[in-house]
Amino acid sequence: MPSRVHLIAAARPNFMKVAPLWHALSAAPDFAPVLVHTGQHYDPNMSDAFFADLCLPAPHHHLGIGSGSHAEQTGGVMIAYEKVALSDRPNWIIVAGDVNSTAACALVGTKLGIPVVHLEAGLRSRDRAMPEELNRLVTDVLADVLWTPSADADENLRGEGIPESRISRVGNIMIDSFELVRPAIEAAKVPEEFGLERGGYGVVTLHRPSNVDDPEQLLRLVDALIEAQRRLPLVFPVHPRTAKRLGAAFLDSRLRRAGVRLVEPLPYVRFMSLVTGAAAAITDSGGIQEETTYLGIACLTLRENTERPVTISEGTNRLVCPETMLIELERALTAPRVVRCPDLWDGKTAARCVDDLRRRAGPLRLPVTPPDGAELVRRYSGGERRAGGSRYRRGV
Ligand code: UD1
Repeated sequence: MPSRVHLIAAARPNFMKVAPLWHALSAAPDFAPVLVHTGQHYDPNMSDAFFADLCLPAPHHHLGIGSGSHAEQTGGVMIAYEKVALSDRPNWIIVAGDVNSTAACALVGTKLGIPVVHLEAGLRSRDRAMPEELNRLVTDVLADVLWTPSADADENLRGEGIPESRISRVGNIMIDSFELVRPAIEAAKVPEEFGLERGGYGVVTLHRPSNVDDPEQLLRLVDALIEAQRRLPLVFPVHPRTAKRLGAAFLDSRLRRAGVRLVEPLPYVRFMSLVTGAAAAITDSGGIQEETTYLGIACLTLRENTERPVTISEGTNRLVCPETMLIELERALTAPRVVRCPDLWDGKTAARCVDDLRRRAGPLRLPVTPPDGAELVRRYSGGERRAGGSRYRRGV
């Protein structure tokens, strides 16, 4: 019997992490992957378009959670996913990244005694004001297997006392997605469609609450972007959270008047086509810091910290604030282009993940059968305490 593997997809940045793994597991006879979409992102251009671009099938389970406060979203996913996990009884649950659904499903899986794997484990910004940092901490402390993208992530986990046996460095799965659809990205010609000259424009994305939910910070950012637009034409695909904030303060029309091109969020292939032709990205996204490092495109990250320091030490990334954006942009545009990619960012991460899963399930080959409802009642009513050596963990 192939091992049933739940792949949890929730929000835009998850889809690029889950897709290569979905394809690799689907091709492996010993695994039966099942796609679970929590519905954290639901607009067609934040979700369906990514499924289409990355050749993902419709999810087997769609939890339809949608937006809400952190507790509503996290709790909603837990309640809905627990039912699916109990009825479907996967052998493994794979959660990706650092969104609310990641922590929610990790919590459900570990409480049910189902082995949980965290893809993109070990990243730390050390900024607990970031909801994502809390999701990373919770997920890593719970997950049985930690798939890391880079050496700094391994170090972070070791520093938190996580045993070596739980850590496997697999590389950066985002690069697999890029390579998976590179021909489509190269054929897309989005810069030309927008009338932009390759190498002669910048791409902007902003969505972090610390940047867009604070009206004063948003105003400072808009002013800085208007200055930057005088140096380099900017295209700005606007995240729904940001669109609301800009619209409420009439800052969208101010950006437009200055010549900044505001467009709807773009699907993966079209967005990567735009990034590939850009001279620079100005962003607060995690994924774009990595993609620009891989492509050797300058990246100015509008944050005080990054959980991806390797994009600074080995890549093209630099941290900026509204006050330093212009000077750093000038520096980035005049610096020689460097393409120096971190180790294992090579498009083969999904294959390493499958090998690792096989190795861990290997000799002890459980079948890992999650407990049924009666067993759970017994366990949580005090009849049995789950110990580190539970039978659901032996293969891990
Ligand atoms: C979420 C993740 C963040 C990730 C980002 C990528 C958490 C805590 N945050 O932030 O880590 O970098 O996704 O985009 O999990 N909305 C829509 N349509 C959608 C989705 C959202 O209109 O399809 C609007 C809603 O008004 C919602 C707001 O955007 O309230 C924010 O969405 P939410 O998923 O809560 O957080 P993101 O800012 O997208």
